[in-house]
Amino acid sequence: MTTFADMKKSIKTLTLGVAFLAILASCDKNRNHPGYSYFPDMEQSQAYETYAENPVWKDGKTNQLPPEGTVPREMIPYDFEKTDVNRTWAGQELENPYHGETEIVERGKELYGIYCINCHGDKGDGKGFLYTSGKYPYPPATLLSDKIRNNPDGEIFHVITIGFGMMGSHAAQVIPDDRWKIITYIRQELHQ
Ligand code: HEC
Repeated sequence: MTTFADMKKSIKTLTLGVAFLAILASCDKNRNHPGYSYFPDMEQSQAYETYAENPVWKDGKTNQLPPEGTVPREMIPYDFEKTDVNRTWAGQELENPYHGETEIVERGKELYGIYCINCHGDKGDGKGFLYTSGKYPYPPATLLSDKIRNNPDGEIFHVITIGFGMMGSHAAQVIPDDRWKIITYIRQELHQ
């Protein structure tokens, strides 16, 4: 007669047996073989490469231009041009949203250290490493001049956005909000 204890025993043996077989089956002698793959469609992606041809679009390109009239996030269309008059206008129209808040000055210092220091120097005197090492031949302007001290923040924003003389536009590197932070740092630390 099979007792309850016997049944428990055979279930145990069976479970051990299945587990043993599973372990055996999962061993693979050839370690270079990746094993079975389930859902290979996800493993081998069918996505088009950015610059690859693409039959889905009319112009045959994968990389599509954004729809006309759209603006990337964080980017604000900038209508002022690279002229002295436009610089003056920008100075009159654009307002720095910051007023020397400590954390803004700190962040501005970091950003200045990334985007401006190499040319304008840690003191803002125009003696940055790129210039003093001779790698950048044109002397960067000093930011400590009366001109820059008396310039409204909007004019400096304009210079960062659109460039000035030999200095190129930094619009692609520095988002508008960060430009104001850099200016706040220049005012609070370099102009003191
Ligand atoms: C690759 C070097 C370089 C970098 C980086 C650079 N500048 Fe300049 N900057 C210059 C040069 C050179 C001039 C002077 C251009 C001229 O006189 O033709 C200048 C001029 C300026 C002026 C205008 C001075 C004036 O007389 O009106 C300001 C303001 C200024 N830079 C701020 C900045 C700020 C802020 C940054 C960082 C976001 C920055 N620059 C990054 C090279 C640089």
